[in-house]
Amino acid sequence: VTIYVPRDAAALALGAEKVAEAVTQEIAARGIDAKIVRNGSRGMFWLEPLVEVEVSGKRIGYGPVKVKDVAALFDAGLASGGDHALCLGEVEDLPFLKEQTRLTFARCGIGDPLSLKDYEAHGGLAGLRRAAAMAPADVVKEVTDSGLRGRGGAGFPTGIKWKTVLDAAGERKYIVCNADEGDSGTFADRMIMEGDPFVLIEGMAIAGLATGATKGFIYIRSEYPHAIATMTEAVEIAGGAGILGASVLSSGRAFDIEVRTGAGAYVCGEETSLLNSLEGKRGVVRAKPPLPAHKGLFACPTVINNVISLASVPVILDKGAVFYRDFGMGRSRGTIPLQIAGNVKHGGLYETAFGLSLGDIVDRIGGGTATGRPVKAVQVGGPLGAYFPRTLFDTPFDYEAFAAKDGLIGHAGIVIFDDTVDMLKQARFAMEFCAVESCGKCTPCRIGSTRGVETADKIAQGIEPEKNRALLADLCNTMKFGSLCALGGFTPYPVTSAMTHFPDDFAPTPLIEA
Ligand code: NAI
Ligand code: SF4
Repeated sequence: VTIYVPRDAAALALGAEKVAEAVTQEIAARGIDAKIVRNGSRGMFWLEPLVEVEVSGKRIGYGPVKVKDVAALFDAGLASGGDHALCLGEVEDLPFLKEQTRLTFARCGIGDPLSLKDYEAHGGLAGLRRAAAMAPADVVKEVTDSGLRGRGGAGFPTGIKWKTVLDAAGERKYIVCNADEGDSGTFADRMIMEGDPFVLIEGMAIAGLATGATKGFIYIRSEYPHAIATMTEAVEIAGGAGILGASVLSSGRAFDIEVRTGAGAYVCGEETSLLNSLEGKRGVVRAKPPLPAHKGLFACPTVINNVISLASVPVILDKGAVFYRDFGMGRSRGTIPLQIAGNVKHGGLYETAFGLSLGDIVDRIGGGTATGRPVKAVQVGGPLGAYFPRTLFDTPFDYEAFAAKDGLIGHAGIVIFDDTVDMLKQARFAMEFCAVESCGKCTPCRIGSTRGVETADKIAQGIEPEKNRALLADLCNTMKFGSLCALGGFTPYPVTSAMTHFPDDFAPTPLIEA
């Protein structure tokens, strides 16, 4: 019998390591012939640690398991899928999982993330094999035709970015994977790196073959030690198996990957600061143009893509552009891994085609708030994303639909708040976050954010609230149009959306009127 205990950081944070130890002890003490596999997470965080047992080809789940439950679970016959209060039945039948369309996350949580055998048994490497037999321009065309857009947040068409690099002249070209996942409430990059690292390696190798780049870097934030360890090991295994190296899958074309660790600055998720940081310089934003696609790492043509963009490429090459493009709505094609977080009953990763309404995601899939109180606001797209009130819950999850409502889907982080949240405090937090994380290169962001904190404080204290509200709105306008990068430029989204949709929170009892 095989027993699965996740090794994903979210499961570890909830005690999975101790549960794995307890399971090992019970197996030994009871003389059960069982093997433990440390899998990735299925992404149902409220059930972690989720222990699974494979019985007659079916995976029976138990969760959330605490160390103190382990002996009782074995008494109830866990090793043969026995019943217990924590038994969830067949994991694949749980509605949260069953109703997903898992293309990018197809393997995540199923097997041992570092087993190449498992990877191939579940369809891995088929995309790279196909790409290795194609002309570079045809691979790029396949990605363009799939409609894949940058999953880091900006939604720029991935195929067009690759074509720019393919067409650019350069002695060397690079593929850089942006794994500096800094948005609050996001974890898709981390989960894939910890749960299915080979899919990212495969996606990067395809990008290399498609553009003529021979070297790739994965820039992972230092806050992700488990992802760093898993990716490093996976790169080594892939090198040993001929997936990376002088002749990728015997194609005669070279591609190698190095894992690099960031030092913890949010702004290093911005592509040009990330490149500076990779070059060993301070993480300060560079002015664009030149685009990284023309002059990126060490001034060479560089594809810089988010983890999920690259990890979505293998399935596109395997199943074809038409298959992928068939999912989604409008100009948002394919699937998106939603990350449902904050004050929510069923938080976790939910991969689905674009087009679900925000209300459906929050109320039906997320199950409302964990506190049971009404949902007041939902922040979509990280700390720089807009707050959506219930009146906008009919907005479909789509790049253009969110932009039309003065919001963004960003990296698809969805953070839910109940009716106890004070939106003026959230607006102040956005300004404070920007002040702390600003690289300092331009004035609207460096100074504007600090003035923003002060102005929010004055509103909270009731000091000339009307004048200060107007000042805050004006400051947002300056930051939006005058900042060099998205950090300063997008901080106005949370602030103005909070002011627009929750005006009552910005109207304290005045102390001093103008
Ligand atoms: P951008 O719109 O300037 O660029 C998007 C990408 O397209 C860049 O890689 C750029 O180099 C490339 N590009 C643009 N025009 C091109 C052309 N003609 N040819 C080839 N490539 C071209 O957006 P930016 O500043 O890179 O990203 C902003 C986004 O980052 C925001 O939407 C935000 O949601 C997201 N973000 C994500 C975070 C995360 O943790 N994943 C954290 C913070 C922000
Ligand atoms: Fe740096 Fe902020 Fe300007 Fe971006 S907007 S370049 S983070 S100072």
